[in-house]
Amino acid sequence: MESKAQKANNDIKALLKARNTLLWVTTREEFRVEQAIIMAAGQAKYPTFFWDCASGMQNMEYEIIDAGRQATDPTEVLKWIRDKGDRGVYVMRDLHKWFDPQTLRTLRNLARGFQGGSPDKAKTLLILSPSSDVPPELAGHVTMLEYPLPERDEIARILNNIVEATNAAIEKDNADPERQEKRKKESLVLSDEKRDAAIDAALGLTSEEAANCYAKSLVTAKEIDPAIVSTEKKRVVAREKVLTWIDPDPRGLEGIGGLAPLKAWLSKRKSAFSTSAKEFGLPAPKGVLLAGVPGCGKSLTAKCIASAWGVPLLRLDFGALRDKFVGESERKIRNAFQLAESVAPCVLWADEIEKSLGGSDGPQGDGGVSGDALGTFLTWMQDHTAPVFVVATANNVAGLPPELLRKGRFDELFWVDLPTKVERMAILKTNLKLVNREVSGLERLVKATEGFTGAEIAAIVPEALFEAFADEKRTLTADDLEKAAATVVPLSKTAAEKITALREWAKTRARPASTPETVTSTSGAGGRMIETDD
Ligand SMILES: Nc1ncnc2c1ncn2[C@@H]1O[C@H](COP(=O)(O)OP(=O)(O)OP(=O)(O)O)[C@@H](O)[C@H]1O
Ligand SMILES: [Mg+2]
Repeated sequence: MESKAQKANNDIKALLKARNTLLWVTTREEFRVEQAIIMAAGQAKYPTFFWDCASGMQNMEYEIIDAGRQATDPTEVLKWIRDKGDRGVYVMRDLHKWFDPQTLRTLRNLARGFQGGSPDKAKTLLILSPSSDVPPELAGHVTMLEYPLPERDEIARILNNIVEATNAAIEKDNADPERQEKRKKESLVLSDEKRDAAIDAALGLTSEEAANCYAKSLVTAKEIDPAIVSTEKKRVVAREKVLTWIDPDPRGLEGIGGLAPLKAWLSKRKSAFSTSAKEFGLPAPKGVLLAGVPGCGKSLTAKCIASAWGVPLLRLDFGALRDKFVGESERKIRNAFQLAESVAPCVLWADEIEKSLGGSDGPQGDGGVSGDALGTFLTWMQDHTAPVFVVATANNVAGLPPELLRKGRFDELFWVDLPTKVERMAILKTNLKLVNREVSGLERLVKATEGFTGAEIAAIVPEALFEAFADEKRTLTADDLEKAAATVVPLSKTAAEKITALREWAKTRARPASTPETVTSTSGAGGRMIETDD
């Protein structure tokens, strides 16, 4: 199968053959992409030239060629290309930094002028930039291309090269007569399993970053250790700021008390996430939107899915997307998606999306993420094919733009309500297990925690532990828990109206994340608190 990079190379070749005169290639890997451009341009019978403001004009061998005294001035060099330049692709590094009215005008004139020229003078300007932020003046004239990060086969090559180079060095060292005395070094052997793990661990990195991670592992551990490579990758991902690598909750779905229908739905999706499901023809699940009462396990669920499925968890932080430069937040979000796709399969967790994707009339106010970012998010949700499972959470669902809720974006919208009776017990038990306690006679707590959120139930456990500890470190009892519960004024009392309004909204739009219990009495806020007296 054609890799993404091969496809990008073919696209560049085709664009050159079709005499596109102004291209914009987005990448943060200058060297790798320049090498690819040389290849693609060569196949389209174009030599490649490189320009930057420090070195001036260079040829394919990176030798400086004389472009006159003004070679480091962008407008002047553009004119030089027009008047004196040979047929070729002119890669302009960082040209976007020099955009002023004059440069932009010159570029547009050139792009048009180049179109008519004779084939032996055919020229194309290629702007190479980490940013995809095209100024509006150029928007209609430039063809954009996003160069993909290296995929498995390319990372595998990088790893092979490093292993071979290391072994060659070891062999040379061992052949050294002075080494005869000393112990000979063993050459590096990677089992298939370790090789695969090391490649997986470096996916999502640029080729240079991958090579650096392998080199670091060789220096620190004298071998290729996938664990060291993943630690390094976490550091690289952290630099992106928009994405954070989160350690998932190791308990898996067991860490969630209640929410049985949601868990069942997720378990079914797990198998659809595998390679065999893909081969079978199942589309990779896109994601789930969890809306609901605060503190009832939405964020917890996101953290548990990743461990249940055994895939990495990345958190998308829309707050970090805010940027005073128009278009920058869009670039950041695209970078984040590109990175997430290369880490795939993974879970991408977008927490509290209503706060950032509230749309133009949403509550985010000034400095919020622009409508463009929302558009980018929606398009990507719809189009991406890599197995990136998005878990989005929201409290104030009414603030969400309707586009987000339309079919085709998320596979399902779940409503996470206050826990039912059975669920309250389950949450209490899960949280007691977390502190290695077993308490008998818990039945009373079901009544004592009526109207509590999951977070409120979880909080009574440490509170009760304090009591037991203060009282000569005795065994924790249901009494302690009951006392702790009595001091809580639940959110469902203080914010009853708000919760009722949220429920009203959810009734017709979302699928309940809990199993409803047979109604015999109602209590708590809003009247949907369903209880059984069994
Ligand atoms: N269903 C549950 N099972 C076990 N623990 C729970 C559950 N719901 C809540 N908790 C406890 O409450 C804490 C807070 O829950 P969580 O952060 O998932 O709430 P949330 O729904 O994301 O709330 P918010 O809308 O305020 O972000 C969890 O870390 C966990 O300790
Ligand atoms: Mg949360």
